[in-house]
Amino acid sequence: MIVLGMMSGTSTDGIDAVVVKFENAKSPNGAPSFEILKHVSLPFAPALREEILACVRSDTGAVDRICALNFDLGETYANAALHAVRQTGLEPFQIDLIGNHGQTVWHIPRHSTLQIGSPAVIAERTGITTISNFRSRDIAAGGHGAPMVAFVDQLLFGDEILNRGLQNIGGIANVTFLPAGHPERSFAFDSGPGNVLIDDAVRRATGGAMEFDADGKIAARGAVNESLLNEWMAHPFLREQPPKTTGRETFGTPFGAEVWTSAMTQGVSSDDLIASLTMFTAKSIAASYRDFLPVMPDEIIASGGGAKNPTLLSMLQMECGSSTRVRRIDEFGIPADAKEALAFAILAYETWHGRPSNLPAATGARHPVIQGDITPGRNAQFSFRAR
Ligand SMILES: Nc1ncnc2c1ncn2[C@@H]1O[C@H](COP(=O)(O)OP(=O)(O)O)[C@@H](O)[C@H]1O
Ligand SMILES: [Mg+2]
Repeated sequence: MIVLGMMSGTSTDGIDAVVVKFENAKSPNGAPSFEILKHVSLPFAPALREEILACVRSDTGAVDRICALNFDLGETYANAALHAVRQTGLEPFQIDLIGNHGQTVWHIPRHSTLQIGSPAVIAERTGITTISNFRSRDIAAGGHGAPMVAFVDQLLFGDEILNRGLQNIGGIANVTFLPAGHPERSFAFDSGPGNVLIDDAVRRATGGAMEFDADGKIAARGAVNESLLNEWMAHPFLREQPPKTTGRETFGTPFGAEVWTSAMTQGVSSDDLIASLTMFTAKSIAASYRDFLPVMPDEIIASGGGAKNPTLLSMLQMECGSSTRVRRIDEFGIPADAKEALAFAILAYETWHGRPSNLPAATGARHPVIQGDITPGRNAQFSFRAR
């Protein structure tokens, strides 16, 4: 099977798409064997990005805007999918399945969640059967609907000897802990902000000319302001027990505005603010290991756009201490920004085969569930049977 996975996260930077070829045989631990044929990252057009940012806030996200955005994003995902297929040198009819995460508009832990980007539009434009809305079924079963990637992490990265942490740093940071020899006992949670506050401050500091701190250069030249850092480290989310999830509802633009105003009134330079926010991400991640993991991991495998920020990764290494080795997922043959898109290709593949793909230990659900809504494409041939 050839499956296309797409992810667009809280950073609202754009769409990561991967085309993955699965072999029918499974490896001994049950992991599907696959090959990444292509990975593309497509930034959102600035106007679309502004519209998304308006729609993910309770003060500006009106129902008419969200209704329109659902279909506009469907078109954008369809175009991204077709682009990725062409880049792979394939035709759409050669793709068996699309797994699309969609854009999160709102998330109420253990109650409800809303990812949009109409799968009807995607299936109609591409002709490819599309699986979407992965998180809802887990929530219906009493879970948080997140983190979804934990299932994929334990399949691909469980190790006999090393205690590993799979650390994704997107807009929000989330970790999957894989105990040595017992990947089935893995659990996962969101530790707090990833890049979201750094991006917000960079946009304010540059009047929108820069979207993020490219290669961590600003943070590297700034100095960490300890009093701001201590204030943020007292945020109640950091003390909540896992399973826990967070998003722009807590660490979004309104929080960024508060942080900016308080730094500017205290005379903190924008470079120092960005350095402090970068340290906040690193320190809150490392603190979450100490507070909530049974042991400090031997190895951290970092992914997401934040893994491309060397200042952030070296702060994380420093905060973890020398007995934990911080590595990038690229060393394992998976591009850092393709990881989550790959995860949704694998989740779609599992659903298509009638297999559950949530990890109740990670999400808090009462039982395993087969995830996602299936929208038939022109290629659909149904013989679906849950196993
Ligand atoms: N070269 C880079 N240097 C520093 N940060 C980067 C770089 N490339 C990407 N990023 C960060 O990664 C973010 C996107 O990460 P991503 O994993 O796509 O998050 P999400 O899943 O939330 O969309 C960007 O907003 C930016 O903050
Ligand atoms: Mg992204």
